[in-house]
Amino acid sequence: MLIAGNWKMNKTATEGVSVIKNILSSVQQITSVDIAICPPFTSLASGSALISQENVWLGAQNMHHEPLGAYTGEISASMLKDLSVSCVILGHSERRSYFGETDEFINKKVLSALQNHLIPILCVGETLEEREQNRTMEVISRQVRKGVAGIPEQAIDQLVLAYEPVWAIGTGRTATPEMAQEVHAYIRKLLSEIFSQQKAEKVRILYGGSMKPDNAASLLAQPDVDGGLIGGASLDAASFVNIIKSAL
Ligand code: 13P
Repeated sequence: MLIAGNWKMNKTATEGVSVIKNILSSVQQITSVDIAICPPFTSLASGSALISQENVWLGAQNMHHEPLGAYTGEISASMLKDLSVSCVILGHSERRSYFGETDEFINKKVLSALQNHLIPILCVGETLEEREQNRTMEVISRQVRKGVAGIPEQAIDQLVLAYEPVWAIGTGRTATPEMAQEVHAYIRKLLSEIFSQQKAEKVRILYGGSMKPDNAASLLAQPDVDGGLIGGASLDAASFVNIIKSAL
């Protein structure tokens, strides 16, 4: 299991320190769940100085695929690696919709992350309109196929996918465990077609979208749900830790 917290654009570096400290002090005994804390870039340096537990990863929320250069405002994989960042969220629906990120652009980032030994958490998910038009699987298929194109066979076990139905993000509307399982199983089937069944079984597929302490256990109990990507409920150390505990 992998439980990842996506803080989005919340918390100053100063505020972040106390949240990270509170999380760390509550998970010292937990070794069977991988935990990722993905604060804004401005908290990565202080987060890096605080985290030493092996199963607690520091994560970023985005990166640029080029190694360096004239890309004002961007951050490269090597800059993240230098701060002991282990994973990076890529293709989040907020980046797709507000910042115009395309499947092709996201794919470049995924490949660059893997080349730099960063674990990409590739996000996919349909909008409400797409679900109502029965286009969920078509959208997921396109996002997954384009997102993972060109990944070398030996790097696949480093890949993490996150299914985040857009209509469930920040809305309090969660996919039912059955709805999540249906799409997760479909993603795994796609991965087994693209790579192999053996490889597909190694990819962790997280669910994200209004996951909270009171609904986490039933979602995480689904056979193809290998963890969660948590937004709002990860901003409070106690609720994030409760979700981690429901993955034990
Ligand atoms: P919420 O948990 O706030 O719905 O956000 C989910 C998400 O977008 C995580 O990346």
